[in-house]
Amino acid sequence: MKYRKLGKTNVEISEIGYGAWGIGGSQWLGGTDDQSLAALRRAIDLGVNLIDTALAYGDGHSEQLVGDAVRAAGRKIYVATKVPPKNRAWPVKSGTPISSVFPYDYLISSAEESLRNLRLETIDLLQLHVWTDEWVERDEWRRAFEDLKRSGKVQSVGVSATEHDPDSTLAIMRTGLIDAVQVIYNIFDQTPEAHMLPLAREMNIGILARVPLDEGALTGAIGEATTFPAGDFRAYYFRGAERKRQVVEHVDALRRDLGEGVSLPDTALRFCLSHPAVSSVIPGMRSRRHVESNAALSNLGPLPAATLVALKRHAWNRNFYN
Ligand SMILES: NC(=O)c1ccc[n+]([C@@H]2O[C@H](COP(=O)([O-])OP(=O)(O)OC[C@H]3O[C@@H](n4cnc5c(N)ncnc54)[C@H](OP(=O)(O)O)[C@@H]3O)[C@@H](O)[C@H]2O)c1
Repeated sequence: MKYRKLGKTNVEISEIGYGAWGIGGSQWLGGTDDQSLAALRRAIDLGVNLIDTALAYGDGHSEQLVGDAVRAAGRKIYVATKVPPKNRAWPVKSGTPISSVFPYDYLISSAEESLRNLRLETIDLLQLHVWTDEWVERDEWRRAFEDLKRSGKVQSVGVSATEHDPDSTLAIMRTGLIDAVQVIYNIFDQTPEAHMLPLAREMNIGILARVPLDEGALTGAIGEATTFPAGDFRAYYFRGAERKRQVVEHVDALRRDLGEGVSLPDTALRFCLSHPAVSSVIPGMRSRRHVESNAALSNLGPLPAATLVALKRHAWNRNFYN
């Protein structure tokens, strides 16, 4: 496993991080806590030292499992978690006052609730789970971040960018007051390359590349007949025949370009790591098998330049979260 510095912090995080949404137990169905803990332990064994969770993932359940794995790890594992919007509305709508989403007292108490779930002394990276640059001048988040850091409850701070709208965080990045941003960056959504990733390099801000496998589309596992149980987030994301047909069409085109014997998920994760602004890519991986194949990719380094040129053609502008 190779490690990269997280922005201007002194922290070296693993190129492959662990995305812990799926293990929350309520939005991704089908796994058990024992399987999740086994996957987390295996990831840690293989050099993963960054885990991205959130209070909203299973209402604290993901944080509890992550805390169990981290406390048993025997070495430093960096935990990134998130403050959910107080009004529980994702994504934030333009014109929403910060008072209904992130008032100061709520930011402090949410971080404290995460610490209780994790049963850890500190949160290595606290991120706001929604963000709009309309709030950039507001005092609430600035003061809460400063006070949480001063108290030692939080080490570094950041935001999670709105789905497919990386430019919605450029103003907060320019303040120099945050250490990291988390953003959708994958073969289909390459939009962060235009403004966010260059700005991250200029300001020395860490980038966590989230949803690198497009919720499973970029693994090649979604077919026209694929179904998910009711209540599983993916039943919503991949809903209807037309969405699945489009996924198959785009994935087939990608496969044709990559050629025989090239692994789609491997290429998708290495695509993210090929950009120098990316600090870590954080696939969701509830199974040990996926942990093992993903953790091995870091040693392969960036994709060849010709592959990166070919992948440019596969950018696909759409929003399945709506
Ligand atoms: N708003 C936000 O801040 C936000 C939103 C979404 C996600 N995130 C973060 O980003 C992380 C990653 O996104 P995600 O988990 O939603 O989706 P993702 O990483 O794009 O895809 C996860 C899916 O890919 C599968 N997979 C992983 N490695 C594989 C491999 N080598 N071969 C085949 N399949 C593989 C997983 O299977 P198994 O799980 O069965 O192993 C799972 O079904 C989340 O866990 C979370 O930490 C943040």
